[in-house]
Amino acid sequence: MISSIKDTIKSELAEFEVRFKESMRSKVPLLDRISFYIIKTKGKQIRPLFVLLSAKTCGGITDSTYRAAAFIELLHTATLVHDDVVDNSEKRRGFFSITALWKHKIAVLVGDYLYAKGFLLALDHKEYDLLHIMSEAVKKMSEGELLQMQKSRKLDIDESTYFEIIRNKTASLIASACAAGASSTSEDREIVDKMREFGEKIGTAFQIKDDLFDYGQKDIGKPLGIDIKEKKMTLPLIYSLSKSDPRTKNRIINIIKRHSEKKEKVQEVIQFVHEQGGIDYATQKMNEYHLAAHQILSTLPQNDARDQLEKLINYVIERKK
Ligand code: IPE
Ligand code: IPE
Ligand code: MG
Ligand code: MG
Repeated sequence: MISSIKDTIKSELAEFEVRFKESMRSKVPLLDRISFYIIKTKGKQIRPLFVLLSAKTCGGITDSTYRAAAFIELLHTATLVHDDVVDNSEKRRGFFSITALWKHKIAVLVGDYLYAKGFLLALDHKEYDLLHIMSEAVKKMSEGELLQMQKSRKLDIDESTYFEIIRNKTASLIASACAAGASSTSEDREIVDKMREFGEKIGTAFQIKDDLFDYGQKDIGKPLGIDIKEKKMTLPLIYSLSKSDPRTKNRIINIIKRHSEKKEKVQEVIQFVHEQGGIDYATQKMNEYHLAAHQILSTLPQNDARDQLEKLINYVIERKK
């Protein structure tokens, strides 16, 4: 399904890939090897797709659009490399994570390198609007991840804090992708703001979907049950706890606090969430955010690119990985 969307902007995506690859190149052999590995194990490239399609919807793809697309994927890759350090995660995109293969120290520095290369890409062309849009996202991502860490120490997260976390750590980058796409082709601030709002809605749905995967059984190319293991309380669990009596609540919290390393204990929490309707509730919330994104999109003039954006937001909530 994503492949049919990609087919409609094949040559533009190819141009993005060239720039993305080029922007990672380094004379340091270790870095070059790791870049090669990153390119070989590429992900879904959803964010560059949002950049390209947003630009196309709002006017047309420009040279600046390609830079924005490469920039965003560099930032996204940097956050994943760092995120796997933070989350102690061995798998990414069906392969070993950078941190599993090269260890934490190297992963931290590779992430830093990718951030710097992203910012340079924009700076070299004096793209200050783009820099502003992206810096905002990087700031929010760090805030979101840190708030999440604080909450996983205390295990006292409520629904509104959950939404604050995911808006910051994930939706902000997708919001920036859409804003940057629009900004690369239009001077109209209202359009740019509208696209940012659109991206924030679908970005929130995107992370709810990701959090739902963690409660499933299917191979998604990264570990399952890892959120509970890392004491990360996400919407299905937050809702389920809010619906249960104090004794059950204490029992589940206790497992997360003291036994989250044990597979069978994590399984018990997963089962509890399924029984309490946590999956259904989170799915419903995800659909609400999807609908909000759809409604914003429908206020834009209809064209082929907008139709593809519509398909892309459907893919976000229907995807299998
Ligand atoms: C993973 O993002 C990180 C989250 C925000 C959940 P993606 O699912 O877009 O990762 P790749 O790039 O396709 O692997
Ligand atoms: C998203 O959260 C991480 C970032 C925004 C960097 P997760 O920790 O759930 O992402 P995955 O599941 O590892 O891809
Ligand atoms: Mg993670
Ligand atoms: Mg996740």
